[in-house]
Amino acid sequence: MKVCVVGSGGREHALALALAKSADVVATPGNPGIVGTTSEGHTLASTAAPAEEIAADLYVIGPEAPLVDGLADRLRGHGRLVFGPGADGARLEGSKAWMKEVLARAGIPTAAHATFDTPEPALAYLRTRTGPPYVVKTDGLAAGKGVLVTSSLAEAEDDVVAKLSGTSFGAAGRRVVIEEGLAGSELSVLAVCDGKRAIPLAPARDYKRVGDGDSGPNTGGMGAFSPVPLADGALVGRVMDEIVDPLVAALRSDGIDYRGVLYAGLMVTGDGPKVIEFNVRFGDPEAQVVLPRYGGDLAVLLASAAAGRLPADVPPPRPTAAVCVVLAAEGYPGTPRTGDVIDGLDAAGQVGGVQVIHAGTAHAGGHVVTAGGRILGITAEGVDLADARERAYAAAARVSWPGVHYRRDVALVAVDPAGTAGAKRP
Ligand code: AMP
Ligand code: GLY
Repeated sequence: MKVCVVGSGGREHALALALAKSADVVATPGNPGIVGTTSEGHTLASTAAPAEEIAADLYVIGPEAPLVDGLADRLRGHGRLVFGPGADGARLEGSKAWMKEVLARAGIPTAAHATFDTPEPALAYLRTRTGPPYVVKTDGLAAGKGVLVTSSLAEAEDDVVAKLSGTSFGAAGRRVVIEEGLAGSELSVLAVCDGKRAIPLAPARDYKRVGDGDSGPNTGGMGAFSPVPLADGALVGRVMDEIVDPLVAALRSDGIDYRGVLYAGLMVTGDGPKVIEFNVRFGDPEAQVVLPRYGGDLAVLLASAAAGRLPADVPPPRPTAAVCVVLAAEGYPGTPRTGDVIDGLDAAGQVGGVQVIHAGTAHAGGHVVTAGGRILGITAEGVDLADARERAYAAAARVSWPGVHYRRDVALVAVDPAGTAGAKRP
C-alpha cells in the first residue's frame, strides 16, 4: 500500500513512521525527518507536490486547517480513499461555538458556556461568573493558542476586548466563547471513526502550558505521555459511552459521514469526564506517544475507517509506555527565532527506544536548522513511564541550539504523583 500523509509537523512524522511499518509513505510537504527506508523495507519520502497530484491508495490528512478548508472533500471528489473528515465534520474544530451547540443537542457533558460577537454583553457575562478561573476562547482556529485560562477578571476582560476587536487573533477571535472553568485531570482520548462507529486508541496526557508546573501561556503542546494511570478501561469505556458514541450519532443525524479522528480533549472532574474541546485530527504531540503503542497495522486501520468499514475489534495497545518531550525555539509560543543550526540529532537518535521526531525543521547550508516554534519531539518507548521518561530526557540532553527550551516535568506526575519518590528533574 502507498499512503500520502498531508502535513509537515511532528504529528505527520509520527504518522509516517507508524504507517511505514506496513506501507510506503510520501508526505506533502513533509519535513527533513520524513525520509529513508524503514527496517521493514518501506520507504519514507517528502515532496513539494500537492496531495491532489500524488497517486496513493490512502490519504491521511494531518492538520486541522486543510480539513476545515475541505481538502478531504476535494480528494474524495476525485475518487480517492481519505482518512480525515470533510469540511462539514471539521467544523467541530473550526468553530468552537458550533461544537458546543452539537454537544448540547447530544447531551454530552461539557463546561457551561456562552458565545459573543460584541464586547458589552461578553463583559457583562464575564462579570456574572461565580469566580475564577475565567476561560475565554477564540471561536476560530488559533493553533492551540486562542485559549486564555486566568484567575484575573481584569486579564479576562482585556482578552475579550483584544479578541473581539481582531487585534490578537484576527478573524478567528471576532467571536468568542466564554466558559465555566473546569477542575480535574486532563486527558486526551483519540478515537478512529468510520462514519458509523468509533474505536479508541490508547489514552494520552498532553502538556499545554509552556513552563514547568503548568506555568506560562498555552501552546500547541509541549509534551505527552501514554498510558495515563487514571484512564483505565472503565474510564475510557465511559468516555466512549457518554461522549464519543453520542457525538458520532449526532453527526450522523446531521447527515455528516465522519471518517477520521475524533479527538476528545477532556477534564476528568468529580462528576466524571467533561469535554474541553473536540479536535478533528490526531493530537500533536499526543500522536507521537499514541501511534507507536498501537498494537495492530495502522495503515490497515486507517484505510478501513476511510472506507467506512472499521473491523469489529482492534488489538489492545502494546504493553509499553511512551513519553514525548517537545523541544521549542527561543520565543515560542510568541514569535520564535528561526534558522539556528541543530546539533546532536544523530546522538539523540542513538539512545535506545528513542525516535527524534521533526516538527519544525528545515535544511539550510548542509545543516538541519530550526524553522518554527515547536522544533523536535523527542519520543521514547520503554517498559514503563519511568523508563520511557528517562530515555526521552537522556536523548533531549544530547540536542542543542541557541535558545532551545523544554519542560522538565513531562510525565513526572505519573512517575512520582506525590513528588516524594525523588524522581529526577533533568
Ligand atoms: P483548548 O484549546 O480548548 O483545549 O484549551 C487549551 C487548554 O486550556 C486546555 O487543554 C485546558 O488546559 C485549558 N482549558 C480550556 N478550557 C478550559 C475550561 N473550561 N476549564 C479549565 N481549563 C480549560
Ligand atoms: N496537543 C493538542 C492538540 O493537538 O490540539
